[in-house]
This record gives sequence, C-alpha cells and structure tokens, in this order.
Amino acid sequence: MKKNMVIGVTGGIAAYKALDIVSGLRKKEIDVNVIMTQHACEFVNPLSFQSLSNNYVTTDMFAEPKSWDVEHISLAKKASLILVAPATANIIGKVAHGIADDMLSTVIMAARCPIVFAPAMNTYMYTNSIVQENIHYLKSKGYHFIEPDSGWLACGDIGKGKLPTPETIIQATLDLLEKTQAQKQDFQGKNVLVTAGPTVEEIDPMRYITNHSSGKMGYAIAQEAAKRGANVKLISGPTHLPCPAHVERIDIKSALDMEEEAKKHFSWSDVVIKAAAVADYRPAQRSQQKIKKSEDNLTIQLTRNPDILQELGKQKEHQILVGFAAETEELLKNAKEKLQKKNLDFIIANNIAKEGSGFQVDTNMATFIYKDGTINKHPMMSKTELANVILDEVKNKF
Ligand code: PMT
Repeated sequence: MKKNMVIGVTGGIAAYKALDIVSGLRKKEIDVNVIMTQHACEFVNPLSFQSLSNNYVTTDMFAEPKSWDVEHISLAKKASLILVAPATANIIGKVAHGIADDMLSTVIMAARCPIVFAPAMNTYMYTNSIVQENIHYLKSKGYHFIEPDSGWLACGDIGKGKLPTPETIIQATLDLLEKTQAQKQDFQGKNVLVTAGPTVEEIDPMRYITNHSSGKMGYAIAQEAAKRGANVKLISGPTHLPCPAHVERIDIKSALDMEEEAKKHFSWSDVVIKAAAVADYRPAQRSQQKIKKSEDNLTIQLTRNPDILQELGKQKEHQILVGFAAETEELLKNAKEKLQKKNLDFIIANNIAKEGSGFQVDTNMATFIYKDGTINKHPMMSKTELANVILDEVKNKF
C-alpha cells in the first residue's frame, strides 16, 4: 500500500519551496495530502499544490467536505507522517500550547503518527527564547524538527532561519518514516497501566514525607509502550517530567490516591507495570495547621499504607502484573519474596545503592526474577533500553 504524508504549509515566504517538496515526495511514490493555512494561501495558490499532489488541498475547516469522513480525523488517521514545511513561529507556538483552531493544528492534535516541523522564519524570531522554549518542549513530547539552515534571509537579515533545501527535507522525512515503520507495533490494542514517581505523604500543610524517585523509569516504560502501539495510562506521583506523547497521565500525590486510581483502572488493563516508589507509611494524622516548633523533640506516628501491588495481585484475572523491587541489600532474596507475596508474573530488582542504578539517573541495572525461579541478570543500560527489555518480556507472556 502507498504511504501517505500530510504536508502542512504555513504562511512564510518559503511556502513556495513546499511545492518542490510535494513534487519530490510524489516522485518517491508517496501519496501526499496538503493542508494550507489561510496565511499560506496568501503566498502560494492552493491550485499549485493541488496539481502537484494530485489531491484536493484543504484550506478551510468548514468548507463543504469532499467525502463524508470527519476530514481532520480521517487525514490524521491516514497519514504515516505529517511534515509542516515551512513551519512558522505561530504553528509551533499553537501546537506547543494545545491550540487547535484551524485544519492544520486540528489534524496535528488528532494524529498519532510522527510529526516533523521544518521551521523557517527571521533569525531573531527563530532565536527568540519563547520560540526556542516551544521547540524544546515539543521535542520533549516526541515531535521532530529539521534544523533550519543559516544564510541570507528574505528579510535581509543574515542568520539561522532558512528552510533547508527540498532534497534535505525529503530525505529527512523518508529516513524518519523508514525508522518508524521499522518500530515494532507489537502492543497494538493492548492496555498498559504504568505507575511512576514518588508518593507524597503530608504531615501538615507545609511538610511531607517522600522519596528520591524522579519518575524516569516509569515514564520511559510508558513512552516505549505507547511507541509500540499500546494504549497507555500513567499514574504518576509528582515529577518534573513532561507527559510522553500519546500517554494519558493521571496525577496523584499520596499512596492512597494511587491506590484509588490503580484500582479504578485495573479491569481496563491487560498489563500493569508498577515502577512507582510508594511510601509504605504515612503520618497517622495529618495536622490541619502548621506544626509549631517547641523546645521538645517531635515524634510523628506513622501508619501503614496499603500495599497496592499486593492488592492488585489478589484481584488479578487476565492481567500481566510486573513489579519493581528497590533494594540496598539481599537483592535476590527480598525481590523473590515480593514476587510471591504480590502474585507477580515477574519482578525487576534494582540495586539502588549501586552507582548508575536506581533513583534519578538515566541508567539502571536490573535483575529479572520469574515465577518459575528463573533469574536473568541484565547489564547497566539506559532506562529507555530497559523499558524495551521489560516490554519484550511482557510480550512473551501474551
Ligand atoms: O523514578 P526513578 O528515579 O527513575 O527511579 C526508579 C525506581 C528506583 C523508583 C524504580 O526502578 C523502582 O525500583 N521502583 C520501585 C520502588 C519501590 O517502591 O520498591 P519496593 O520494593 O518498595 O516495592 C515493590 C513493588 O511494590 C513496587 O513495584 C512498588 O510500586 C509496589 N508497592 C510498594 C509499596 C506499596 N505500598 N505499594 C506498592 O504497590
């Protein structure tokens, strides 16, 4: 089947170069649908794109539909990749802020395929910290960017902001398309529930008990599962991480909040991976007022939090249940006990006392322990790589 690309053309002087991009992609046997913003139509006539793409060009969200599909959804579903070239500061800003007020921004919002921006604008606009922050944010959410070239710009300034040549853009999009098509989609249709980050147990309106979890491990699992086609819900304690693309994040604070959400979404789940570091105890009483200091020592009575994973283990039906064990000593013995007590399919033991493993860092060193007693020791690797090793193991259990 022919691959389809949606080319979004926005209002910049480089809009005419998108004609060569469309023509070049057609020569590579790519079916192209062009969406032009209203401002783009001021620079190039839609008819030119229509002739080159051999497809109807969409310019107006509310024009008479050419088929009885909901057009922005059908274009978003059909596309193997969306390229926005040239991408103005305006479209980048809109997407970064979740604004969908015309056909292009709506299609981008509804799409699950890779989205590539090729920015082209005045160099001072491009280097403006607001534009740069928007680009940085979108990159962190999985959007792709083709760096603009430097040189003489239409406005007379010299600097970075020129649209790269059509050949460069075509090659970059085809390379990305090939890479993403090679990406396994082996979790298509599977519902994956991931927990990540720490829990926060309040002592009073000002103070709390927590731990060092950054959420990186759980977020990496959620991100990779989504890339592999899963429907992903991420129950997350407070972290500084952006929500991965195509993941539904459910923010919680305490272990009790996490328990409520985990139970609510358990029957929906085919797979549950609990990477969160849940506090085992919480203050027996949360003081309504700030606790005043006095000359005496202060004792805070702690009470047990529910063991969420153990509870899920008891309710388990078809779900594949995976836990983590964060240990500082007797790694295997402690992890094996948790595996059995919580009725897990397998557990990932990580030695949090080892440098480069466990909390905060980008790498982890894990040992997988299975119900039948098999033990698999893995070398140190990035949390993203480990996430994929975990998902490979889960897949073997389907
Ligand atoms: O977030 P990062 O900075 O990337 O760090 C990653 C990590 C070290 C937090 C992660 O890899 C990890 O080991 N997570 C589990 C930490 C932990 O709480 O381990 P545990 O041994 O206390 O708990 C065992 C399992 O039971 C875990 O899956 C935990 O989510 C779950 N649990 C624990 C206590 C509790 N009350 N309810 C639970 O569900």
